[in-house]
This record gives sequence, structure tokens and C-alpha cells, in this order.
Amino acid sequence: MAVLLSTKPAAMAMWRDALLAVDPALEIRMFPESGDPADIEAAVVWTAHDMAELRRYPNLRLIVSMGAGVDHLLRPPGPPPGIPVARLVDRMLTTQMGEWVLLNVLRFHRQDLDYRAQQRDGIWNELPAPVTAETPVGFLGLGELGSHAAGLLRGLGFPVLGWSRRPKQVAGVESFHGADGLAQMAARSRILVCLLPLTPETRGIVDARLLGLLPRGAFLINGARGQHVVDADLLAALDSGQVAAAALDVFSPEPLPAEHPYWTHPRVVMTPHAASITIPASAAPQVVENLTRARAGESLLNLVDFSAGY
Ligand code: NAP
Ligand code: GLV
Repeated sequence: MAVLLSTKPAAMAMWRDALLAVDPALEIRMFPESGDPADIEAAVVWTAHDMAELRRYPNLRLIVSMGAGVDHLLRPPGPPPGIPVARLVDRMLTTQMGEWVLLNVLRFHRQDLDYRAQQRDGIWNELPAPVTAETPVGFLGLGELGSHAAGLLRGLGFPVLGWSRRPKQVAGVESFHGADGLAQMAARSRILVCLLPLTPETRGIVDARLLGLLPRGAFLINGARGQHVVDADLLAALDSGQVAAAALDVFSPEPLPAEHPYWTHPRVVMTPHAASITIPASAAPQVVENLTRARAGESLLNLVDFSAGY
């Protein structure tokens, strides 16, 4: 039996090496060289793989996302019926995202865009001192990534708020849920960080209404998915000053077309979906563990809840 990998060729080679380092007995196939479809028992795939294609493998017992997000696996037609899907929960993914959020919170909190503009124009001018304890940071999503980043900011003395689907207790984080909770949290968030999964409920959640609830001159940080943000609404909020600046790692579509206004907007800081990149050597052990469990009919790690959509 074999494991099918599907992503860019260079990343596939890294995944192959990482999986074989954990279990040298594995047989690895790299898409589109799947070989006999009956051999494939697990598919470890990233965003470009067509879920209809996975219906070709009669003995498939497990699908694994090469990242934390699974929206690419759940969009129509979705995974073959009855096949479980697992995602990655990985220390290195979590650490990187924490760093990226920290980088951007501090960038905005410490007026870095303004100081860079002043430097460019040769201006020596001290801006008002930022007060950490008076800069609440609100998180959309308090899962693996959100709760870790929230903890880092809490450690620096930022008041931290978080919104989740279900009521939640995270040490040092004031937690909210539901539509009213979202509005209450937004109204207090000087910096809003999106780390939600993309689901029918969260698509387009960062729209004119939500941005309008933030204190004037708030900042947006989106490390989740581009489709969470209504781009026209964010651009309008940036141009009106309702939102002072945005740090965006994810876009719709990706790569972002060259003519998109984000590329040149003076108040937008972009990274090319690089906030947190899967390191196969770190993630491979949980994939092998899940394959072992799937073979034994045991419960899987980091299983996707289809009814919740993440
Ligand atoms: P996770 O552990 O599943 O956490 C998701 C959080 O969002 C949970 O707190 C969940 O609430 C909350 N949530 C889900 N639906 C909601 C809704 N309708 N209303 C309110 N809250 C809702 O996911 P994660 O591992 O933190 O990852 C989050 C996302 O980050 C991924 O799905 C992926 O899209 C993105 N990501 C991006 C990068 C990058 O490089 N840019 C890297 C990795 C991941 P509950 O706690 O109640 O379940
Ligand atoms: C990256 O976007 C991921 O979902 O891991």
C-alpha cells in the first residue's frame, strides 16, 4: 500500500524524505505518478489537488491536509464520502504564526509605518509614546494558532480578547462568542487579528460592518484566508481612516494579481501566504501516526469535523 503526495514538486520531495525518515517501510507516490489506484491508502495533499480525483482510489482510508487549514479539501465536491480528513496541528506552524502576529502587532503598536515614512522624508519627529496596557488586541479565532499568539501578546502586557464559535476559557484572554460577542469584542479591539478557519459562516466576516465597529484608526491583521476579508470594504476603510493599516498574508485569489491596489497601498503590509509554512520534517510524525491509527481502526489525531467545517 502507498501514500500519495500532492503539492509542488520541491515540497513533495521534502515530504517524501520526511515521511521515509519516520517510517522507511512506507511506499510513497508523487502525484500525478499515482501508479495502480488500488495501492493508495492515504493522500497527503495541498490546495491544488482536485477532490474528485481522490475518488479514483478504491482503498483510500485517510486524507491529510498539508497545512492547518482544510477549506481546500471541503470545497465541492469535497472528500470522497466516508473518508476521514485530518489536518496538521504542529508546533512549528504554531510558532511561526505566533511570530508573524507578534511582528505585525508590534509594527503597528510601535508606529513603524509612520516612522518609516518619516525616515523616507528625512523627518526627525517623535510620535506619542504607545501604551501597551491600553492597546487591546482582539482575536477572531482562538484555536491552536489564535490561542498561542494571544498568549504571546498577553506575556508582553497587551490586553487580549478572543472570539470563538463555542464559549471558551483561555488563561488571560477575555473570551466572546456569538454575534453579540463579536460586536462587543470588535468595539474594544485596537488591533484585530483574524485566525479563523474559512467556512460558510466565516467567509466575508471582515466586512464594512465589522470594520465599522472597530475603534477609529484600528489595525487589521489577517493570517487566515483571503476570503475572510471583503477587499473593497477594507480598502474603503483604509482610505477613510477607519482602519489605519492592515497586515495581510492571505488573499483572494493567490497569487494576488499585479494590478490589485493592495500591492501599492501605503497602509498595507503584505506577505505572500508565508506567515506559517509547513515544515514536513516537523509534521511527518503525526501523519505516520494517523496512518498507523487508520490501519488499526483507531481514532485519528486532528480530525476535521465536517459539520463544523474545520
Ligand atoms: P483551529 O484550531 O481549528 O481554530 C479555529 C478557531 O476559530 C477556533 O477557536 C474556533 O472556535 C474558531 N471558529 C471557527 N468557526 C467559527 C465561527 N463560525 N465563529 C467564531 N469562531 C469560529 O484552527 P487553527 O489551527 O488555529 O488555524 C486557523 C486557520 O489559520 C486555518 O484554518 C488556516 O486557514 C489559517 N492558517 C494560515 C496560515 C498562513 O500561513 N497564513 C498557516 C496556518 C493556518 P472553537 O474554539 O469554538 O472551535
Ligand atoms: C496554511 O495556510 C495552512 O493552512 O497551514
